[in-house]
Amino acid sequence: MINENWESEFKTRLLEHYDEMKWLYTELYNDPHAFDYFCEMLHQYYAERSDLLKEWDEARIAVPNWYQGNEMLGMLMYVKQFAGNLKGVKEHLDYIQECGVNYLHLMPLLESPAGRSDGGYAVSNFRKVQPELGTMEDLSDLATECHKKGMSVCLDFVMNHTSEDHEWAKRARAGEKEYQDRYFFFDNWNIPNEFEKTVPQVFPTTAPGNFSWCEEAHKVVMTTFYPYQWDLNYNNPTVFNDMTANMLNLCNHGVDIVRLDAVPYIWKKLGTPCRNLPEVHTLVRLMRMAAEVVCPGTLLLGEVVMEPSKVVPYFGSVEKPECHMLYNVTTMASTWHTVATRDVRLLKHQLGTVFALPKQYTFLNYLRCHDDIGWGLDYDFLGQFGTNEVQHKKFLNDYFTGKLWESNGRGELYNDDPTLGDARLCGTTASLCGIEAAVYEKNDWKLNMSLELDEMLHAFLFTQSGIPVLYSGDEIGQLNDYSYHDDPLKWDDSRYLHRGDLNWDHVAMRNDMNTRQGRLFHALRKLEKIRAAHPVFESDADAWVVETYNDHVLGIGRYYDNEKLIALFNFSEDEQVAWINEDEDYIDLMTGLQRDAKGVNLAGHSFAWLLHSYREKEYNTEAPTPIEKKTKSVDKSSTKAMPEEKKTEVKAEAKPAEKKAEVKAETKPAEKKAEVKAETKPAEKKTEVKAEAKPVEKKTEVKAEAKPAEKMAEVKAETKPVEKKAAVKPAAKKAQPAKKTTRKPAAKKTRKTTKKATTKKATTK
Ligand code: GLC
Repeated sequence: MINENWESEFKTRLLEHYDEMKWLYTELYNDPHAFDYFCEMLHQYYAERSDLLKEWDEARIAVPNWYQGNEMLGMLMYVKQFAGNLKGVKEHLDYIQECGVNYLHLMPLLESPAGRSDGGYAVSNFRKVQPELGTMEDLSDLATECHKKGMSVCLDFVMNHTSEDHEWAKRARAGEKEYQDRYFFFDNWNIPNEFEKTVPQVFPTTAPGNFSWCEEAHKVVMTTFYPYQWDLNYNNPTVFNDMTANMLNLCNHGVDIVRLDAVPYIWKKLGTPCRNLPEVHTLVRLMRMAAEVVCPGTLLLGEVVMEPSKVVPYFGSVEKPECHMLYNVTTMASTWHTVATRDVRLLKHQLGTVFALPKQYTFLNYLRCHDDIGWGLDYDFLGQFGTNEVQHKKFLNDYFTGKLWESNGRGELYNDDPTLGDARLCGTTASLCGIEAAVYEKNDWKLNMSLELDEMLHAFLFTQSGIPVLYSGDEIGQLNDYSYHDDPLKWDDSRYLHRGDLNWDHVAMRNDMNTRQGRLFHALRKLEKIRAAHPVFESDADAWVVETYNDHVLGIGRYYDNEKLIALFNFSEDEQVAWINEDEDYIDLMTGLQRDAKGVNLAGHSFAWLLHSYREKEYNTEAPTPIEKKTKSVDKSSTKAMPEEKKTEVKAEAKPAEKKAEVKAETKPAEKKAEVKAETKPAEKKTEVKAEAKPVEKKTEVKAEAKPAEKMAEVKAETKPVEKKAAVKPAAKKAQPAKKTTRKPAAKKTRKTTKKATTKKATTK
């Protein structure tokens, strides 16, 4: 039902989707009353949305692909581990910005019972922030501040289940039928046992089975994840209506990107695996339309940790899109497989699949996140080389837990299921790359090799189309945190191994190139800047696998807007040759020097970004690339940046004033000029900066029409000049990190619900 008194903007947007919405809703629920309630609810959230956020919506509608540019860089963090609380994060936004990040993913921060929180994924109140992290106002404040700095905010929306402490769960436990109907309650184990015949397990060791006994209600309740996470019953339209309202409420607090947690699981049906059912897609499509009506600047990010054939359908179709973005989970897992095997054939095959997808599909690429690595690889493909799934998983786990003589990885197993040999893996990028082992052994050679591997993996990450997302701490090579072993609230979940507090003392070392933190930080910054400066890294570039005739070397080609990139990655620790034969003239983007793309020699764990520009005149008549200028004194045969040169670069970058100017320069070409003027010190430096300034300006000119994010900023600037000003003004840097809250170990809580163990196959999660 459409109310004539509703605002015309809302009515127009609603009308655009009304028929499809009603059709899909009726297909699922056949409840006109509930549908009317749904529309009323959408209007309520539209009416409550702030004018400022509505302006952002407008700006984003004007540039709908604003999130697909090559300047996008994400960071994923736990608020508490990063800076104690939401205010702390706000105080450290300068650091996040210094990392080049413009997409901030905050891990779950809504109220969740201590010790039964699953890292915040058991929400007891969708309208309240965990008190130790702050308030809903703090969340809005932080989002506003992020927006001023041109950053988007992503937040988890845990929609498959609630905590057993949620109001609905409490009332269900107390026997209220209305609330029991919001979950899956059964009088006895008969039906649950039938479900168990076809439903895999997510946590076979830490929380076996998919159902738990609820003593108070004297019934069995569905708990796919932990026993304290009760699955919501989306067969009930009230659940869908209220949960969509909860999502929209987060959007109205400034959340730009909603991560739909565990979305494949939200529809259950007896006799099926209860994953990826067609009704899930109907619900996601409805949520997409709800967001487009109420807060069209919002993006949906689906957490679909499944095999590729199950992931892609969550994009929906061009006419009826579902999620805007999805995780590139198989590429992530295949990358770590390649690290262990030094054999790029699986990765080539996987990338071939991804590259063949429509370019509008935006993937979130990552090396590590807050979860374990599940070995969901393409075993049919690997089978042709005689690889056996169970043995291979064991090999990978042995490799990354350092059990094999040649391995320096320091991970831990997660949900080791000996019956199926299906353990998954935890650990930070740095520890898995061998940095932890090298530091412990005080072995510089090993450290260097591990750092090179870490850098190369990030270069590969940045070569992929989509949004690269760093896991907070990875920018300085943070190691595993073993303290969770002593914390009774955490010790049975090894994912806490890579969820340690950010070490701010190490962050403070980021400008000292004699430290591993400094080396990694600046290596990543350099890659990010190059990525942002070259259109060839745009998401809609053509991408293809380059045959290197060497199974240790991955080759990727990219083409966009008169730029061609040949990227080569040597996954072996030995020197290798990429047997390629590309005719054009190439510049090595890392050194700025000319380099042939023919029979390319690559040192162990090294990589090359070789660029050919078809706009040769521009390159020849204007100025060399920024990097070329910087490295003009480097030995031409070198494929890697020399330490000396790195030092100079870091020194230059370390000065706070320059740094600030640099941040400005990245946003506004005009300010870049100001920076050049301000630079009056050593003559040499001045020339260097000038040279740097040119291509950036040039690029901005050339791309002025194509760049979604810039375009969006322009639109925004027109609507809100004050805001725009604030967005480019670098905020004062805080010298001290926020005081971290200390964790009080508490006694292990006895579970109110007990889960029945079964021996079903675990999922890839
Ligand atoms: C998602 C989260 C994971 C959590 C699960 C249950 O997969 O990434 O950390 O355990 O959902 O909510």
